[in-house]
Amino acid sequence: MASLFQLTTDDIHLLDAGAGKGALTEAFVQSACSRHERPNRLTVVACEMDERVLGALRLTMERCQSLCAASGIEFDGEIRHADFTESALEFVRDDLFSSAKAPFNAALHNPPYRKINSDSQTRRLLREAGIETSNLYTGFLALAARLLCDGGEMVSITPRSFCNGPYFRPFRHEFLDSMSLKRLHVFDSRSAA
Ligand SMILES: C[S@@+](CC[C@H](N)C(=O)[O-])C[C@H]1O[C@@H](n2cnc3c(N)ncnc32)[C@H](O)[C@@H]1O
Repeated sequence: MASLFQLTTDDIHLLDAGAGKGALTEAFVQSACSRHERPNRLTVVACEMDERVLGALRLTMERCQSLCAASGIEFDGEIRHADFTESALEFVRDDLFSSAKAPFNAALHNPPYRKINSDSQTRRLLREAGIETSNLYTGFLALAARLLCDGGEMVSITPRSFCNGPYFRPFRHEFLDSMSLKRLHVFDSRSAA
């Protein structure tokens, strides 16, 4: 997944929403460090809600820092112990009233998959921002797309339910209005790597 990015900028701002222990961030850093044309600067915001994995995420960030230092890349890693939907929505809302620039040019995730109840706080917040969706993973994707600057790239591993059916139609409209699909890889199995 990390190798799919085509960014050529030397200043990368990566979002890892639902970072877990940071496996995707680390893969991205390894890939950036092994490139012939390396970026000068790499900043990462890793957002994770589960307190239990934060220790491991911190260790991953330290490894990323060392990897970048050894490759001459300036690294700045930030861990946000927060609900991604809430913190992204704060930015998205503010952005409607200010000229704040979209902060990321890369987003790499394996977002959480679960239904959002129609009367839940998350559903209400998403709806307020004009995002109508019944699953958390599409909520993450729609928000991450809004946090990307022009020309930004996103790589995500998700269920394929968003591709069809009326439930995901509003998401497809929202997403494909701002993003274009470059590549889809369909895994043969959900359980076997
Ligand atoms: C499918 S796991 C992926 C973990 C990691 N990115 C990986 O690929 O190994 C999804 C992660 O999202 C986190 N998560 C779930 N809901 C979240 C939310 N609202 N905000 C931030 N993180 C969340 C979970 O705790 C979990 O670590």
